[in-house]
Amino acid sequence: MVDYDVFDNQTVYYKSSENMSEIKDNSIDVIVSSPPYNRNKLYSDDRGGIYNDKKPQEEYFRFLTTVWRECYRVLNPRGVFFLNIGDAAPDQGISENVAQLAVKTGFHRLQTIIWIKSFLGKGHFTPSGGSRRLNNLWESIFVLVKDRKKYHINPKAIGIPYADKSNIGRYANEDLRDAGNVWLVPYSKTTGATIKKGHEAPFPVELPYKCIKLAEGETVLDPFVGIGSTLAASRLLKKKGFGYEKFPRKELIKKRILEGSFKETPSILLPHLELAINILSRYSSIIEYSQLHDEEFFKFSHKEKIQLNILKDTLNQLNLRIPFLEEYFLQWDHNREKLKSKKRIEVLTKFLDESK
Ligand SMILES: C[S@@+](CC[C@H](N)C(=O)[O-])C[C@H]1O[C@@H](n2cnc3c(N)ncnc32)[C@H](O)[C@@H]1O
Repeated sequence: MVDYDVFDNQTVYYKSSENMSEIKDNSIDVIVSSPPYNRNKLYSDDRGGIYNDKKPQEEYFRFLTTVWRECYRVLNPRGVFFLNIGDAAPDQGISENVAQLAVKTGFHRLQTIIWIKSFLGKGHFTPSGGSRRLNNLWESIFVLVKDRKKYHINPKAIGIPYADKSNIGRYANEDLRDAGNVWLVPYSKTTGATIKKGHEAPFPVELPYKCIKLAEGETVLDPFVGIGSTLAASRLLKKKGFGYEKFPRKELIKKRILEGSFKETPSILLPHLELAINILSRYSSIIEYSQLHDEEFFKFSHKEKIQLNILKDTLNQLNLRIPFLEEYFLQWDHNREKLKSKKRIEVLTKFLDESK
């Protein structure tokens, strides 16, 4: 008799995913998973069992191949498999090898999403303090499909508004564009607590949430449940979820699935963020010394106005409040017609000329 629990339409089988005979062929729409990384992390279960996460490489690859073969069997031809894994510092390239194992079982590699785990001071990463390598701030999410012709994703399901609204109509009829394959999803603060309880590698619920939305499926599978982040996302999105965990922490899993939630990180295009920072540093010095509230309005070119709009949207999405800029945008909005301040235009033109 297989040991399992069901939490609000999310079924967790407490057994190895090397055999997922409980799941029918072609019945799963989205798989989101992160396997053991084989780098000696501690995975312990309720009964005091400890998973050996340092197998000989051949054995590790054989084990994953068996699981990926099962994933291939159960995935619907329309379905998508999001495989998250990062490189270990001393074991560079291991993530590529793990993705290649999936390719050998029949999957096609659609693309790779870069998951940035920490940005703007939010989120967790392990600062090494060492001098021989840079800290690693990202991991891969390999996007794999079973059938290159039949798979389905909808980039706009996790899209963002256009910065330059003149693109509406040119590229799309709605104010929504693809947000790209670099995802900024910081670890939540609770990660530290779960680490202490014996599970070192949960991903944030927001990560599988984005994947499930992108694939627009109804059935979800995670062959390596961990504490249950994928199934928590599946529950939030009202999907039917299935998962396997050989070394379960049942109370943690139950809590994560039934209570796991998050505040969505704004989807921001990395180029927009970079642009925002550039503009900010470029214009802030002018605004400081030219006493914004006494003056009226800069004369900006069309391109600069678009850039400033991107900055405005980006700051809004990040919930960042920069008072002098807010005041400036307010003036900009209200004083469009009052293009009178010669001095200001001169200052800006001079500055722009100098910074070319
Ligand atoms: C990287 S963790 C997954 C973390 C998960 N994404 C989360 O957010 O909680 C890998 C998990 O696979 C589990 N595991 C290891 N071998 C397994 C097997 N043969 N079948 C099912 N689960 C297994 C480990 O106990 C560990 O919890």
